[in-house]
Amino acid sequence: MQRRTIQTHPIEGQKPGTSGLRKKTRVFMGPHYLENFVQAIWLAIGGVRGKTLVLGGDGRYFNDRAAQVILRMAAAGGAAKVIVGQNALLSTPAASNLIRQRRTDGGIILSASHNPGGPDEDFGIKFNCANGGPAPEDLTGRMYEETRRMTSYDIVEAQDVDLSRLGALRLGDTVIEIVDPVADYASLMARLFDFEAIRALFAGGFTLRFDAMHAVTGPYARAILEDMLGAPSGSVVNAEPKPDFGGGHPDPNPIWAKYLVDLVMGPDAPDFAAASDGDGDRNMILGRGIVVTPSDSLAVLAANAHLAPGYARGLTGVARSMPTSRAVDRVAAARGLDLYETPTGWKFFGTLLDAGRVTLCGEESAGTGSDHVREKDGLWAVLLWLNILAVTGRSVADTMRAHSRDFGRNYYTRHDYEGLESDAAAAMMAALRARLPDLPGQDFAGRRVETADEFAYDDPVDGAHSAGQGIRVHFAGGARIVFRLSGTGTEGATLRVYLEDYISDPARLELPVEEVLADMIAAADAIAEIHARTGRTAPDVRT
Ligand code: G6P
Ligand code: ZN
Repeated sequence: MQRRTIQTHPIEGQKPGTSGLRKKTRVFMGPHYLENFVQAIWLAIGGVRGKTLVLGGDGRYFNDRAAQVILRMAAAGGAAKVIVGQNALLSTPAASNLIRQRRTDGGIILSASHNPGGPDEDFGIKFNCANGGPAPEDLTGRMYEETRRMTSYDIVEAQDVDLSRLGALRLGDTVIEIVDPVADYASLMARLFDFEAIRALFAGGFTLRFDAMHAVTGPYARAILEDMLGAPSGSVVNAEPKPDFGGGHPDPNPIWAKYLVDLVMGPDAPDFAAASDGDGDRNMILGRGIVVTPSDSLAVLAANAHLAPGYARGLTGVARSMPTSRAVDRVAAARGLDLYETPTGWKFFGTLLDAGRVTLCGEESAGTGSDHVREKDGLWAVLLWLNILAVTGRSVADTMRAHSRDFGRNYYTRHDYEGLESDAAAAMMAALRARLPDLPGQDFAGRRVETADEFAYDDPVDGAHSAGQGIRVHFAGGARIVFRLSGTGTEGATLRVYLEDYISDPARLELPVEEVLADMIAAADAIAEIHARTGRTAPDVRT
């Protein structure tokens, strides 16, 4: 086998964002693009020689080709072993689990999460560390530095590795172990949850619809929900991972998973419905006649997690990202749990989870998870919900009703203004920042501002400081508006406005969300001058 050093040159723009390097697929397919970045990973982690890595992806277009390149580069770099999911598939949480279970030095995940896939869509690559979590900023910063002075990379010349057959083989001196992508993850789930109780639930006629959105969770959901737990065959739909995700956005929200919303609101509603995204880390939870917002789901899971064996000893603490509604804060206060408020981005939970300060965490952007891995985990959230419903015997709607009775309700919605001109959006945020000192004491739409600030975070574990993480305006009576520019957009700027009001009056717990939040919606426009500065009269997306 021939090891070759290929001359190359730095390629612009290989700066990893929140979730690794994400670009158009054709960019990744361009000469040296993937190779340069992989070589930069090797350099940034101090070389791959002697190391064991995990490798897999969400099955999108180019996943298989990229995996072959990475294997040849791992062999050229002298890696001891690469553990690859069969057919180069691994969901993000399953990859995180494998990295931890097998005590590897880290892993590479090929995914652009919920973005569409295909030759003209998106591709991505990210490195996770030995704790199973995404590379922290100093490491991704080093990768970027390496891409800027790249002159050559090493790769072996070899036939493609047959990744369809389980077992071990050699590529040069590197062992390639091809594993069932589902097995280890499924046994982790079986340890955390009461599979007997969930099996009994399905045996009793409980109905489920899980939409895998033609993405990676299909094989996981089929194996766990249908084969192990006895949900009737056909409960998992769109279960075949496809390179283009069937032409859709594999994003589990009321827009891209509208079919599920219509289903649970219609005459043939199942007892429970759920969906996950391209790489399996996001989740959407629905029940007959109800869509559960991610913030409420986090609160319900925090209040009831002890009903699952893996969490029977209770939680050490809980964390949410700042814009996530404060429903979980009510649970934490009532149960005497520590509550952490972090900036947007799963990576901020890593230190808290590693230090054992929190057991459960979640974000309004459809991510929920726990200390079982170091990524958010879509199927895990589904299984915890099923475990809770199996033990309590309640429906999803009754669970939400009981939760509101016990804790009150944080009415919540997010309004997104997409594709704004970047300068106009930045100017709007700057103007808002300048107004902060004057806001307290002022009335908007009949509500008085109590405090207003820009969120900054000091990580209590490693002391890292993160400034400029979103503007918060708190009103008398418990309402709140948060303004933030998205950190994941690719074109222009996206303004996210997170609106929330707290109601405990038992007579007002089941009102339409937009009705309860009408004052806050008006206040948001008055405070940020959204219409005046952007010309927009309504958001593009409401979640
Ligand atoms: C990704 C991250 C999440 C984050 C979300 C929204 O999915 O993994 O942690 O909450 O993006 O980010 P944005 O900056 O677009 O609001
Ligand atoms: Zn994802």
